Amino acid sequence: MPSGTAPPVFPLGNGTYDGAIPQKNPSGMRILFLTHAFNSLTQRLFCELSERGHEVSIEFDIADSVAEEAVALFQPHLIVAPFLKRAIPETIWKNHVCLVVHPGIVGDRGPSALDWAIQEGGEYWGVTVLQAEAEMDAGPVWASAGFPLRPAKKASIYRNEVTEAAVGAVLEAVERFAAGGFVPRHPGPEARGRLRPVMQQTARHIDWQRDGSATVLAKLNAADGFPGVADELFGEACRLFDAWPEAALRGSPGELLARRETGICRATSDGAVWIGHVKREGDIKLPATLAFPAAQNLPEAPLEGWWKSKAPTWQDIAYEEAGEVGFLSFEFYNGAMGTAQCRRLTEAFRWAAGRPTQVIVLLGGEDFWSNGIHLNLIETADEFGSTPADESWANINAIDDLAEAVLNCETHLTVAALQGNAGAGGAFLARAADLVWARDGVMLNPHYKNMGNLYGSEFWTYLLPPRVGEEGARAIMRHRLPMTAPEAVKLGFYDACLPGPSAAFRVDVARRAAELAAAPDLPARLAAKAAKRRADEAAKPLAAWRAEELAEMRRNFYGFDPSYHVARYHFVSKSPHSWTPRHLAKHRDLGWEVPVA
Ligand code: COA
Repeated sequence: MPSGTAPPVFPLGNGTYDGAIPQKNPSGMRILFLTHAFNSLTQRLFCELSERGHEVSIEFDIADSVAEEAVALFQPHLIVAPFLKRAIPETIWKNHVCLVVHPGIVGDRGPSALDWAIQEGGEYWGVTVLQAEAEMDAGPVWASAGFPLRPAKKASIYRNEVTEAAVGAVLEAVERFAAGGFVPRHPGPEARGRLRPVMQQTARHIDWQRDGSATVLAKLNAADGFPGVADELFGEACRLFDAWPEAALRGSPGELLARRETGICRATSDGAVWIGHVKREGDIKLPATLAFPAAQNLPEAPLEGWWKSKAPTWQDIAYEEAGEVGFLSFEFYNGAMGTAQCRRLTEAFRWAAGRPTQVIVLLGGEDFWSNGIHLNLIETADEFGSTPADESWANINAIDDLAEAVLNCETHLTVAALQGNAGAGGAFLARAADLVWARDGVMLNPHYKNMGNLYGSEFWTYLLPPRVGEEGARAIMRHRLPMTAPEAVKLGFYDACLPGPSAAFRVDVARRAAELAAAPDLPARLAAKAAKRRADEAAKPLAAWRAEELAEMRRNFYGFDPSYHVARYHFVSKSPHSWTPRHLAKHRDLGWEVPVA
């Protein structure tokens, strides 16, 4: 059963998307994903395999009996476990080939694979696709792929290097399975990996008196975004996340030295590091200075303006210039953009638009471009003298103000360059720019309904239909499925897809932006853009689009149906799934039947 190259998921051209993932392909297989969650890696594999004509259905790992039921209903040719926290039941792996994605090199076993590799400062790591057997991660190997290990946060390595390696290895394993005749082998004595235990907090412990900044950063990176490093701040137990290096500030080891916006700076034995986020016991993850109001008593260490600091330090919004091009980065943790962050970014954008340049590139952050409004801050709004509904309202207005500033920018050509993923409002905020370029590995979730039927704003009703047609826009919103960057470009939603990895992408973006700025037709292009905006404004003002969207959002925030508040609570509290949404579990569709061979 060769998997071959099948038609793309999304037909070419604007306005032709009907939301349908190819259901039948004679050369495709039925592949069941057993997974803990539909995370970005699972989404990417879902898209890659669907694109190749396989019919992929998803079941969350809730209980053995539920997984067994899914297998019975779907009768898969192959089972893939992209992100699993428990062993696959024997009743399943004994009767089906189950391919498990392990974020470790061949021979590595255990649940803290990446944590050990990062904390121990390894230079090379990998992903192994192995067949499930009785002992977890110890089965025969179908494929593997490796990568140089960056000194970076675990979640960042997972979303970038691990995801790219996993896609390559899973596609290879699936092709081997489909072709038949491949015999997977258990790792031999030459395998470099070994069984490692779960990494306990004792191994993660930071000794602020003795550990230097490099060690502290490695420990915090290895624990990001879960489980964090257990520590104490202001005399209270908490978990630390989101570490940044600091080159200048100094103090006695362990001392809290300063605050800047939402980060706190703490001295190590040979320097200092910034801590961006913390989780107090029983609370959700929050920006450090907000989680601890006492942080306001620390001296403030402001940066001057928006220019990117030459020395390493905490800086969430950073501006750089190369000739006629300005680059605005916004490194907001997890891509969540709170009210204050949106307001500061709008200020920075307006300032950048006053510079004597021709093109502004909105670079977002390395891992995320934007995931829309900040659901954690909204959830805890009561603690800061507001309410979740009021904070949602303030946040969506602040992000709309930013979108409006970008849409109304007549002085510059604007480019949204997505190095990292974008979801919900973030995916539409990018579209406010004149051009949207995405790295080829980026995953997009341009829809809102998964968050308790949220209607959405960010001018999506103005921006999306001209790109994909009215029916296309409805389908994207209704189907609530992820989209790869190449799919977004085929669809006409985004403008270009450029090869990664991120460093190469940024170089390519800079070159293309410089070409745009130097092109002789730039003045004509700017004039045409201004004319189009004015014509659009005359036909229907931005204020009217915004008011219509916000009227729906007001109902979501303040209306009698609490779905959004309930969904947000479960999202930020990371409530375990109790069922798989029907749009993912095709085998649970009414009328689903296994096709007759
Ligand atoms: N606000 C606050 N936190 C957010 C967030 C948001 N809008 N979007 C993502 N996050 C956080 C997650 O809680 C998670 O936190 P962690 O560090 O504690 O693990 C982290 O970002 C990564 O999210 P995750 O869901 O694991 O990433 P993913 O790449 O697998 O999935 C999305 C990406 C966008 C599909 C998913 O994060 C999502 O649905 N986010 C909500 C988007 C939304 O509804 N925004 C509001 C409407 S504009």
